[in-house]
Amino acid sequence: SRRNLLKAGVGVGAYGAGIALASRFGVASSPAPLLLEAKGTEAILDGTHVTKGMMTYAKADAPSANIPPVLRLRRGEPFVARFTNRLDEPTTVHWHGLRVPNRMDGVPFLTQPYLYKGDSFDYAFTPPDAGTFWYHPHCNTLTQIGRGMTGLLIVEDPKDPQFDAEITINLRDWRLGSDGQFIEQFRPRDTAKAGTNGTVRGANWRVEPSFDAPTGGLVRVRLAATDVTRIYALKLDGAEALVVALDGHPVPKIDRLETITIGPGQRLDLALRMPDSEGKTARLIDVRPSSAKTVANFRSVGTSLKRTLGDVTPLTPNPWQEPDLKSVERVPLILSATAENAPTQSICGTLGYTFWAINRVAWDGDTPDPMAPLVEMKLGKSYVFNLENNTPHAHPIHLHGMNFKVISSNARAVQPLITDTYLVLPDEKVQLALVADNVGDWVLHCHIIEHQKTGMTSFVRVI
Ligand code: C2O
Ligand code: CU
Repeated sequence: SRRNLLKAGVGVGAYGAGIALASRFGVASSPAPLLLEAKGTEAILDGTHVTKGMMTYAKADAPSANIPPVLRLRRGEPFVARFTNRLDEPTTVHWHGLRVPNRMDGVPFLTQPYLYKGDSFDYAFTPPDAGTFWYHPHCNTLTQIGRGMTGLLIVEDPKDPQFDAEITINLRDWRLGSDGQFIEQFRPRDTAKAGTNGTVRGANWRVEPSFDAPTGGLVRVRLAATDVTRIYALKLDGAEALVVALDGHPVPKIDRLETITIGPGQRLDLALRMPDSEGKTARLIDVRPSSAKTVANFRSVGTSLKRTLGDVTPLTPNPWQEPDLKSVERVPLILSATAENAPTQSICGTLGYTFWAINRVAWDGDTPDPMAPLVEMKLGKSYVFNLENNTPHAHPIHLHGMNFKVISSNARAVQPLITDTYLVLPDEKVQLALVADNVGDWVLHCHIIEHQKTGMTSFVRVI
């Protein structure tokens, strides 16, 4: 109707006009935007108390939920999120693992201005890769992620194999006191080591949630580790599964899940075969010695579908340009616990300490005049990052805007995974290869947010 056309066209600029025209003429010239907002909320996280002061994402036109919505996109189809900040502090949205144009990457100053309370921004891009990704802020992230701003983002491909069910798991802990309220998100003495873990553990904002799925069926489990700090060693008890993708990308070789270690920022896709008798439960457990715990349960319901893991078909690989290893430029990336400078304070938050550095320089904080990039890469040229961890702690190192391939390590046999986050072990030296295929300034940082915010951040430039 005319009224709806007007409503859609008012106050939203070019996109609004595009949508109005599109609905009038029946042409989808630009997609209808997803209305996404950031806002305060509260929820029961520990099973007993209402935790106040949470922060979340919500769809503006859907009934409000406390857990950020799982966003579903399609590979190769344009997507627009019209994002509005309703928090009392600035924020931005980063699409972790998605190869997007630089100005959609959500990093204050490097790619866009802060979004203050009431500000809106259209994040528009077309995802080139299918898989399991996630979204989170890139401003004051220890607080904002720590208080709930982490959502799964799934890019579907029409060619994706069919499963009997799909379960999405947002795996994370919370730092709460015994009264269920947030406590100090970090302890400096831990930040200078492996980081500060949460006190209440769970998935999808519940403690040991139980998911129902068809007895004897094949389930695609899409899991994202969205903790600010915790590293998991995940194992299944009572069922079997294949690891079909890691960090959004189909694995080069499908293996049975034994124990898999994943750090903050990483994703895991499983083909899970449900137990064969109705009512039986399988458990996903974290078997790290200091922190063993069930994180989720899967319960069989209905009569058995009698599938087997042999019925699983591999996923379609994402497009990937193979680096030319004969003509690469090598870029040293040395992680250390000492820096030659001290960061400045900024709105989006440094923590007031410097513990870490990349190539001996600690991140400056968000500033219009950042330090020099680690490297200036030429569009289309191949590079190898020689990542060297000179610290006694593991660091999930994440690159924005591009994927890299794990080539070799001095510490373990590696699969040639294509990924955006590599969990580098203490004293490990690893080689990561990529073609510089996306123009812009791209952050590279440890996804243990305390480490990120106390120096272990830098950026690369592609020109
Ligand atoms: Cu998950 Cu800088 O990002
Ligand atoms: Cu780290």
